[in-house]
Amino acid sequence: MMGTRSSINNKVCVITGANSGIGKETTKGLAALGAKLVMVTRDKTKGESVRDELVKHTGNPNIVLMQCDLSSMLQVKHLSEELASEYDHIDVLVNNAGAVFAKRMTTPEGLECSFAVNYLAPMYLTHLVLPLLLVGAPSRVINLTSGLYKQGMVRFDDLQSSIRYDSMKTYSNAKLMVLLWTYHLAKLLKDSEVSVNAVQPGFAATNLGRNSGSFVQEVMFGAVRFMQTTASKAAETSIYLASSPDVEGVTGMCFAKKKPVKTSLASYDEEKQRNLYKISLEILKIEPEFVERDANSS
Ligand SMILES: NC(=O)c1ccc[n+]([C@@H]2O[C@H](COP(=O)([O-])OP(=O)(O)OC[C@H]3O[C@@H](n4cnc5c(N)ncnc54)[C@H](OP(=O)(O)O)[C@@H]3O)[C@@H](O)[C@H]2O)c1
Repeated sequence: MMGTRSSINNKVCVITGANSGIGKETTKGLAALGAKLVMVTRDKTKGESVRDELVKHTGNPNIVLMQCDLSSMLQVKHLSEELASEYDHIDVLVNNAGAVFAKRMTTPEGLECSFAVNYLAPMYLTHLVLPLLLVGAPSRVINLTSGLYKQGMVRFDDLQSSIRYDSMKTYSNAKLMVLLWTYHLAKLLKDSEVSVNAVQPGFAATNLGRNSGSFVQEVMFGAVRFMQTTASKAAETSIYLASSPDVEGVTGMCFAKKKPVKTSLASYDEEKQRNLYKISLEILKIEPEFVERDANSS
């Protein structure tokens, strides 16, 4: 059943990793509030079955599917083109998809998979759809990080963990990168009405780590399962940031349990933020001034 109408009613919300766990619950919550949802999933069959379930459950027929494997920057580019051909604006972008990789793997584009899916893809997608977000302004970008970012480090001499790889460490590094980028982008967009915030959803029972290899799987699906919250509870902060009038204009913050939280000193390091952004643009072969110029011309 459709819930109470809110300021999100009829707004275009794009959610990555929308077929599972926190992303599925975020989609469900926003659909119940009457939003127009674009579920980004990499598996069409899985995506279609979840979409049908959510349409039935919420009574909201405005849920469409777009397919993208976020480890491929080419597919991310195609996704942005598909979004631009279907929509003249975006109100909310939730960069929710994430994954843990037991072993170091690289994509056909030569990117380390955890770096690509957890950090570079959301950064690139947001960059590519910025013109749509600017048209949709006041619009909102919501980036999923993790409390594990505290164990992360950004090693500029080994950004993609080719010297040393540890699945959880590399995941934590990427989640720190998400925070550094969130804070930096919020500053770049300060004169626009596009807000950019991060979410720590909490430790939740989802599919995260399911096929990632023995140790991570043991942790996520073993003895600690009882300590985890539900995906639905973990989605509350994303839903709040996407829909609540309370956070209109709030930008450059990290939220947990619907409240702003302070993050580590490392995450606020402006030099690191700038360096990471610059190197990311270089990897993606993007002109450095694009974001500033675009935001200021809006
Ligand atoms: N669960 C937790 O305790 C926890 C804690 C802190 C942060 N987080 C973060 O919360 C977010 C949601 O994770 P979750 O816990 O809900 O895990 P989940 O159930 O595994 O959902 C992750 C979603 O991301 C998608 N995804 C993964 N790799 C992808 C790729 N290459 N291309 C496109 N989509 C891809 C998955 O698609 P498939 O179904 O096709 O794999 C799935 O829809 C992630 O960013 C995660 O890092 C989770």
